[in-house]
Amino acid sequence: MKKATILSSLVAAVFLGGCCGGEQRDGMPELLPASSFETMVDGKAVSLYTLVNDSGTSVQITNFGARIVDLWVESADGTFKDVVMGFEDIASYLDASDRYNGPVVGRFGNRVGKGRFSLDGRQYQLSVNDGDNHLHGGDKGFGEQVWRVGKVGPDVVSMSYVSPDGEAGYPGNLTITVTYTLTADNALRIDYVATTDAPTIVNPTSHSYFNLHGTNASSTNSHVMEIFASAFTPTDAGLIPTGEIAPVEGTPLDFRTPTPIGSRIDADSEPLRFAGGYDHNWVLEKSGSAAPELAARVWEPSTGIVMDVLTDQPGLQFYSGNFMTGDEVGKRGNVNNHRSGIALETQNFPDAPNHAGFPSAVLRPGETYTHTCVYKFSIRK
Ligand code: GAL
Repeated sequence: MKKATILSSLVAAVFLGGCCGGEQRDGMPELLPASSFETMVDGKAVSLYTLVNDSGTSVQITNFGARIVDLWVESADGTFKDVVMGFEDIASYLDASDRYNGPVVGRFGNRVGKGRFSLDGRQYQLSVNDGDNHLHGGDKGFGEQVWRVGKVGPDVVSMSYVSPDGEAGYPGNLTITVTYTLTADNALRIDYVATTDAPTIVNPTSHSYFNLHGTNASSTNSHVMEIFASAFTPTDAGLIPTGEIAPVEGTPLDFRTPTPIGSRIDADSEPLRFAGGYDHNWVLEKSGSAAPELAARVWEPSTGIVMDVLTDQPGLQFYSGNFMTGDEVGKRGNVNNHRSGIALETQNFPDAPNHAGFPSAVLRPGETYTHTCVYKFSIRK
């Protein structure tokens, strides 16, 4: 299909609002109308923003949680597939029991053991929302906040949030801006910038559940995974790192050669038992370059869709949807079945503030936190 035709059908779909529900038409993206997201949350306006490139790849993002709602990429047979789980309207996101469909999570992505850390000799207690631990910024983390929308263009949208001093127990007023850019070569680039007025900790990440079948509830166990890391950070049974950095060699966490996720996911191995599957932080190989480098590559043979994950961060959390129960129904009636979505979260290491051997997560006044994550799509037939 010609570029002009792709664009005009997508634009018509968005602006005429005739795009939603039912079967995929002609293999083209079914974009959601902004009207399904236009409401007030906490007294602030929420909407939906659509980025489309010349190939027809598209992403829709709401400022409720700076959240990816859908992401349509072309598959090997020429049809477009929505490769992230989520819901069709804002009401469903507000009601959802799984709050991690696509948002930016933070201030600290993943867990802080017992929600405690000390900084400059002072102890801080964060809210606890995952057993005894703090997860993804607490009960009302970045993903539950309404972000202020800045720049909006055909291929870019930026959103900011000011997290007040004391929110969820974190010190300092933290200002964070996240910019999403959809590139001509089918990459969704996410750039984070944050500053603070008092010493604090920061580790935001993007939390989409990807399914490269298209989100049709199929298991992601068939995805072929490659993670460019020879070590990981083992945890205790509560998924809090022990502080050790252990080799993946000889374990089911060794994805240095392409391996189907399902081939070893139920192997008898302590890390997999603790997590009920994959839910670990890999220590990425770094060349020393400041540019984002390839961290992981996932391929679904049945659709031919390949997703490369690139980052400048030291860690990557690969979570295989072990906590999904099938009790939630998302876009187009698709169910979030057990292991029907994977998260690949670029990050500092979980619980970093409590382990001297992990990279520092401290941000001080006058410093600027930056983080880039790229999800790049291509087709392998
Ligand atoms: C992941 C985390 C998992 C789980 C998931 C949200 O980042 O590692 O343990 O909490 O988020 O369901």
